[in-house]
Amino acid sequence: MTVKTQSNTDQLDQAQRSRICAAAAILNNGGIVAFPTETVYGLGADATNPAAVRKIYAIKQRPISHPLILHIGSRAHLEHWSQDIPETAWILAERFWPGPLTLILQKSRYVPDCVTGGQDTVGIRVPAHATALALLDAMHAEKAIAAPSANLYGRISPTTSAHVQAALAGKVDMILDGGPCQIGLESTIVRADHRTVSILRPGGVSVTEIESALNRPVSLAYNNPEQAARVSGSLPAHYAPSTPLRLHTKAEIGEQALGLARQHFQIAVVTWSEFDPLSLSAPGIRHIAMPPDPVAYGKQLYAALHQCDQIGFDFILMETPPQKPAWLAIADRLQRASHAHHKT
Ligand code: TXA
Ligand code: MG
Repeated sequence: MTVKTQSNTDQLDQAQRSRICAAAAILNNGGIVAFPTETVYGLGADATNPAAVRKIYAIKQRPISHPLILHIGSRAHLEHWSQDIPETAWILAERFWPGPLTLILQKSRYVPDCVTGGQDTVGIRVPAHATALALLDAMHAEKAIAAPSANLYGRISPTTSAHVQAALAGKVDMILDGGPCQIGLESTIVRADHRTVSILRPGGVSVTEIESALNRPVSLAYNNPEQAARVSGSLPAHYAPSTPLRLHTKAEIGEQALGLARQHFQIAVVTWSEFDPLSLSAPGIRHIAMPPDPVAYGKQLYAALHQCDQIGFDFILMETPPQKPAWLAIADRLQRASHAHHKT
C-alpha cells in the first residue's frame, strides 16, 4: 500500500492550511464540512456534538439507524472512542492506519448514540489524507469527525470536490478540496471481537492483505441479510448511478450495446479488457476503456459513473470484472449498482 505517503501534512501549502483552519472552526461550532479522504469525500461533523451529527442524516437523507464512521487522527485515540479492543484490531490498526480500513469495535461512553444508530459498536478509522489529518489536528481536544460518504443516500460516493458540489452545494457549510481521491472506493469494514474477524464491506484494503496481516482466514459477512440493516452499504441496491446500469460479459456486451443502439438509445459501454474499438463503434455508443489493473480501475470507477450520469446516457453497460480477490470491492459495488435498477 502506498497511501501512507499521502498522509504527510508537511506537504500542505499556506492557502490550504488556512482553509483547513476555517473548516476546523466550522466543525467546532457545530457546522458541516465535506472533506477529502484517500477513499472518498466525507460529510463531516464534530462527533461529540449530537445536533451537528443529526444534520448529516438530514442532508444525506439517510435513515438515522445507519451508523456513521468516526475519523480519528491516530490510533493513539482508539482507546478513547472504543473499549475492550481485541488484539486482532490492534494488529490491523498498526498495519493499515492511516489507510482505507474501518474497524467495528465496542464503543466507549464518549461516542454519542446518534453516531452509532443506537448500537453498542462504533466504526473507526484514521484516514490517509494530509488535509483530513490536518483538519482533525486543528479541531478542539479529543477530536473525531463523524462522517459518512458525502453523497445522497444510496447514490455513488464522490471522489472529487466537484462531485460533492454537484450533490450537496448549498447544503453544507464548506467543501474542503483535497484533489481527487487516491483510492476511489470506500474503506474495507472489518468487525473484530475476541473470537472472530469478519469483513462487513470489501474496500480499499483487500481481504488477502487482511488475512496475511493476521496470518489467518477471515469470514466474509457482507452478503448476509442480517447485516444489511446495520451496514447501509450492504443493502443490495446501494452505490447506484441514476442511469440504469447493467453488467455483461465481454462476449455479450457488444451485442447488447448494438441492440440498444438500434432502438435509438444512448449507451455508455465501460470495459476493462482489450476491445477492438470497431466492434463497439455505432451511432449512440460511447466506449469508455478503463484500466485493466484493479487499483487504477477502482480509482476511476466512481468518476466514470458520475460522468455517465452527467452526460445523460440511457444505459450504462459495464463489462463484468474478473473474479479475482483484488477485484472484490469493485465487483461488489457494480453488483449493487446494477441491482438497484432491476427493481425500477
Ligand atoms: O471510506 C469510507 O469508509 C468513507 C470515508 C468518508 O471514510 N466513508 C463511508 O461512510 O463510506 P458511509 O457511511 O457511506 O459507509 C460507512 C458504512 C455504513 O454502511 C455503515 O452502516 C457502516 O459503515 N457502519 C458504521 N458503523 C457501523 C457499526 N457500528 N456496525 C456496522 N456497520 C457500521
Ligand atoms: Mg456511503
